[in-house]
Formats: sequence, structure tokens, C-alpha cells
Amino acid sequence: MGKIISLVSPKGGVTKSTLALCLASAYGNSCIVDMDRQGSLDTWFHDRQNRESEGYEQDVRIQVEFYGQEELTDKKLMDLAGQYEYVIIDCPGESEAGEKTRTALVYSDLVIIPINESEFDLNSLLDHLVPLLDYAKEANPKGRFVLLPVFCHVNAGLEKTIAKFKPLELDVVEALFRYRTVFKRFAENGQTLEKYSENATTARERIRARAALSDVNEIVLQLNNHLR
Ligand SMILES: Nc1ncnc2c1ncn2[C@@H]1O[C@H](COP(=O)(O)OP(=O)(O)OP(=O)(O)O)[C@@H](O)[C@H]1O
Ligand SMILES: [Mg+2]
Repeated sequence: MGKIISLVSPKGGVTKSTLALCLASAYGNSCIVDMDRQGSLDTWFHDRQNRESEGYEQDVRIQVEFYGQEELTDKKLMDLAGQYEYVIIDCPGESEAGEKTRTALVYSDLVIIPINESEFDLNSLLDHLVPLLDYAKEANPKGRFVLLPVFCHVNAGLEKTIAKFKPLELDVVEALFRYRTVFKRFAENGQTLEKYSENATTARERIRARAALSDVNEIVLQLNNHLR
């Protein structure tokens, strides 16, 4: 069976979809389950298919299944885990931590909770997600639940940032998802970050894209410790 990895947060705009896409392309043989009505990754996938139909060669196979409207059953999820090495669930930011968040918490091997240093984000997590985690840990005893510090300053040190989240008493991934403008734009035309980096036309763009790739690779390396 493939591994099921979820990106979960009660807060919107904390990089869940961006990370889902970066992880899927880094892992390869992945299926993203887009559970958000906004369908950002579903749109990305259609752009990608359109490019392909024009003869454009893609670097890696990524499937996207859209479950923004209909319910994702546990049977469907298990079917996908039977077909792909990684199933990556992109959850919507559900302020009341609803059904989609529960599905992700209960069925995932690894739940990644991106967390920004802001007081509002910390409070939202404490109010809406932490109370659900005890239930989730009981329902999913093999699951791992980890925090990933995101939107970190490029020069941010790991230790100080990690220390900030210690009071939440959850494992913190020892890698930072840094604030880099490349992450805002790489995905146009259904591209992956790898393809964006290959296609960079200036040295400056290439250096920035490689720095972004190196952030993702470090995150993947650290996540692998939690996936074992
Ligand atoms: N590491 C990063 N550095 C800078 N900007 C980023 C980074 N990751 C994501 N972004 C930008 O931040 C915004 C929010 O990202 P994204 O859509 O991935 O978050 P989300 O948690 O999926 O949001 P939503 O809850 O609306 O689904 C987007 O404009 C995205 O391009
Ligand atoms: Mg999203």
C-alpha cells in the first residue's frame, strides 16, 4: 500500500496546496486528492493536461483527483493507496475542522500541519485542531502528526523557530518551508518546481529556483524520518 500524507490546517493560506504539489513532484508516482472546493490543484492539473495535449513533455507523472464537492470514501482512498506510492491529500482550511479534516486525520500515515509563527495561527490551531488530535490519535494509532514551520524568513534558524512551537507538544519537522517568491509562481501552466527550475531563463531565476528545490528536498528528507 502507498503512503497517505495529508496537509491539514484550520487556517487558510498557510501553504497546504503549494506543499502538496511540491511533495507530489518530489516523490513521483503520486496522486493528489484535492479536497478543497476552490480546486486549485484540480485547475493546475487541467492546465497540465492541456499542455500535454499540445505535445509538451512532462517531467513526472502526477495525478489529481478532485473531491472538493463529493465525499471521499475510505474505500476510494484505499483504492488510490493501492495504485500509487503516495497519496497526498490537500485539505481546505476548515476553521471548524470539519469532515474533510477528520477524514485526513483518521486515514493518513502522516499528517503535516503547516504552521506560521503568527499569534492568530497559533490560536486557531489551539482552538480548532488540537482538541481533535486526541480523538484522531485514538482512531489512527499508527498515524504521525507533525508541525512544519512555514513562511520562515530566508535567514531563519531552525532551532529558534522550532522552539516557538514546542508548547503545542507535537513533533516539529526539522526543516523550514521558507518564504520564497518562487513558490508563488512556479506552478503556472501546470508546471512542477523541477520543470520551472529547468526552464529558468536567467541565472538569477535558476539560482532562486534551485534554492526553493533544496528547501523541498530537505523537507522530504525529514518527513521520511516520520514516515518510517
Ligand atoms: N514558501 C512560500 N513562500 C512564499 N509564498 C508562498 C509559499 N508557499 C505558498 N506561498 C503562497 O502563499 C499563498 C497561499 O498558499 P497556498 O494556496 O498553498 O495555501 P493553502 O493553505 O493551500 O490556502 P487555502 O487554505 O486557501 O487552500 C499562495 O499565494 C502561494 O503562492
Ligand atoms: Mg489550498
